[in-house]
Amino acid sequence: MTVSSLSELLLAFERNWPTVSESVARGNIKMLKSFLGPAYKGLILRSHKGVDSTLMTAEQTVHYDWKYMREFPAMAKLYEAAKSGQWNANDGTLDWSHAFDPLDQVNHIIPDMYCPGVVLPQWGKLTERQKAEHRQALLSWMLSQILHGEQGALYGAAQVLQSVPWLDGKLFGSTQVVDEARHIEVFHRYLDEKIQRKYEINENLYVLSEALVADSRWDVKFLGMQIMIEGFALGAFTMIRGVVNEPLLRDIMKYVVADEARHVNYGVLALQRFYATELNEKERAEREDLAFEISLLLQRRFLIHEMYEEYWGNYFTIKEWNKFASESQLMTFFRKSMFRLMIPNLKRLGLLSERIRPKYAEMGILDFETGRAMSDMTSDEILAVPL
Ligand SMILES: [Fe+2]
Ligand SMILES: [Fe+2]
Repeated sequence: MTVSSLSELLLAFERNWPTVSESVARGNIKMLKSFLGPAYKGLILRSHKGVDSTLMTAEQTVHYDWKYMREFPAMAKLYEAAKSGQWNANDGTLDWSHAFDPLDQVNHIIPDMYCPGVVLPQWGKLTERQKAEHRQALLSWMLSQILHGEQGALYGAAQVLQSVPWLDGKLFGSTQVVDEARHIEVFHRYLDEKIQRKYEINENLYVLSEALVADSRWDVKFLGMQIMIEGFALGAFTMIRGVVNEPLLRDIMKYVVADEARHVNYGVLALQRFYATELNEKERAEREDLAFEISLLLQRRFLIHEMYEEYWGNYFTIKEWNKFASESQLMTFFRKSMFRLMIPNLKRLGLLSERIRPKYAEMGILDFETGRAMSDMTSDEILAVPL
């Protein structure tokens, strides 16, 4: 890495990952290490843009089990539920036949109030066709990020099942791999056939995905994927189900959320046991920092920059856009639905200590800690969480 790219990287860190810098100042070098390479590739080289594929190096320890003891009954129960809860997007379970026009100018695929550009004076000057394109782009952006997140979840699940020390966890993990494959299939098909356009992965989601693939600590992958990224996805699913009035997409969300609820449950069960027995205080604090870092990222950094570059870059600075986007109705709903589900889980894992609580309070999301943990909720209850 050259000196100028190093300074660019530090600047990019300042802009995108402010608490990583704070953590490093506190001596949490491990956090910097896990994000440095992925951040350089994602934020500076932007090496995920315009390519057909990306190679990432995964590293983890494989835990072989020779006793085959079934000693984690709660996880065994989840495994049974997963085996009988399988569904197939292509066998008639979902009705793909109804007509759908992603550019419908009468029945809007998403209400205009959720488009981040709607508060801008230029919105009123758009033609009806252009407004329809914005609605299509917005739904496509959201579902594309979900699709890319599902791919990350597939690899995360496949890696973690090799490392968890419990046979029941390995067996359940194998069902999650199949679940994530089905999610990729269904979202890709929906984007392809119905929305008819796709977006590349958001740069911050890319950095996070690569950092988690590359981290050799299975519990860190688990925390990042099962609790944070799955929580992000569940927030998006409940929000989309709340704002998009399209029967097929609503059905897809219902089926996918039933699977995701099991995955989050799996993550909470595994990490509760692991954190309680295997980590010292310093290691626990590292996980706490990481969870906070990702929370901040999820709150501040998913501001639909791809749509800014495409449609609004000539009219506004990125700083102005960030303000519009973060204050938009859509992002407000999204943050609420995501953190309402995620924060009680972090509490349950012991990752809301007195040290970190003021930071969550500053973000305005600590109040959610008294809510019900997602791992106690049915998928219908998760979907019914008020926006
Ligand atoms: Fe999934
Ligand atoms: Fe999942």
